[in-house]
Amino acid sequence: MNTRKLPWTEKYRPSSQKEVVGNIDSIQSFVSWMKSWNNGIPKHRAVLLVGPPGIGKTAVVGAVANDLNFELVEFNASDKRNKDHIEIHVSRAAMQHTLDGRARVILLDEVDGLSGTSDRGGVGAILKIIDYSAHPIVMTANDPNSPRLKDLMKRCKVFHFVPIDDDAVMQVLLKISGANPNQVSEEMFASIVARAGGDLRAAISDLEAVIEGRLANDEIDLGTRDVRRTVVQTLRRLFMVTDSAIARMVVSEGNVDHDSMLLWLEENLHLHLTTPLELELGLNALSNADLYLGRIMRQQNWKLLSYVFDFLSSGIASSRRKTPYRRVEYTEPLWPLLIWKGKKKREGKEDLISRLAPIAGVSMERVYEKCIRTIDSIIEISPKQMGKFAEWLSVNKKMFGRKGSRG
Ligand SMILES: Nc1ncnc2c1ncn2[C@@H]1O[C@H](COP(=O)(O)OP(=O)(O)O)[C@@H](O)[C@H]1O
Ligand SMILES: [Mg+2]
Repeated sequence: MNTRKLPWTEKYRPSSQKEVVGNIDSIQSFVSWMKSWNNGIPKHRAVLLVGPPGIGKTAVVGAVANDLNFELVEFNASDKRNKDHIEIHVSRAAMQHTLDGRARVILLDEVDGLSGTSDRGGVGAILKIIDYSAHPIVMTANDPNSPRLKDLMKRCKVFHFVPIDDDAVMQVLLKISGANPNQVSEEMFASIVARAGGDLRAAISDLEAVIEGRLANDEIDLGTRDVRRTVVQTLRRLFMVTDSAIARMVVSEGNVDHDSMLLWLEENLHLHLTTPLELELGLNALSNADLYLGRIMRQQNWKLLSYVFDFLSSGIASSRRKTPYRRVEYTEPLWPLLIWKGKKKREGKEDLISRLAPIAGVSMERVYEKCIRTIDSIIEISPKQMGKFAEWLSVNKKMFGRKGSRG
């Protein structure tokens, strides 16, 4: 019996396309090509997935084969792959039908690694097989400039894969460490992500090593501590987490002053808090922060500042109950312009304003400038929420939306 533990990169190998992150367009086209085999042999019998290591090239083939119920026949880099071997084994797999009549996909992993004097021969053999294969052939390679690939690229549909962006890497790590995220500090997550540079396999391995205590903090830290994170990065990191302790750490490390933090959150929290409950919790946290700030200013009692930071960090992060984290583009707050701009035409929204003011704990003016725009923006992103907001505030749905903006 094999009692060895599976490395996490295997344990968390995606079993469905849904679990593969990044490279959406390439993956979509690849899936379409795979599906096209169900309607007969397409123009290209082979495709090449090219890109740096650790970003899901091999994984996506397995995942999609699984989703589409293709039998996967894999020839990986450790197999002997000289001309003779390819001619015999790969060719056999390419010609024969599966016993149960299932569709089959052939994976030749890391073809730029074909080595030895039979390289040419190896590629030549593959090229011949591509001509008559009864099954889709998928190849992967790391180096698009490898001379070994030149001839293959001419005959294959080529899909380029790029490194996974930091947000997506972070998401995967958070998901994997899901059960007890407290084991790894937010700082550590950030270091792992930075060090991986878009290589998800490396990131997952590092996470495993850290959690098993094989890799220490200072070994992994790339000096991210020195980097003064911008507000945008702080917001991103804040909305990635829901844990209070981590949220506090994110904000304190962010080095963003409380005023900017408040304004940026006010302007952008609706992008992450999209249900009425979430928005209510989020606005509450903001209004509490605002309240304390007022007190601090009036009494010059700076001891209260830590409460402000609590509301702005854990208060906000823990408001996200349902909406999954997603990467969004934040808008820079226009304050103080907006707030002091004075009365504007209110487009008949008095009702809505008077319902919202007590909930948000702010003035009617501020409600008009901020909360309503916020709710309108949420509804623009997710029209489904309109009914829920109407119910929450007991107002007519017509209250929402920019006049005449839709239908
Ligand atoms: N895009 C991705 N989505 C989800 N997991 C990934 C992704 N890329 C890599 N991984 C993780 O890293 C492991 C190795 O990925 P792999 O597909 O072998 O990389 P590549 O073939 O590009 O070198 C996978 O088993 C999986 O755990
Ligand atoms: Mg691979």
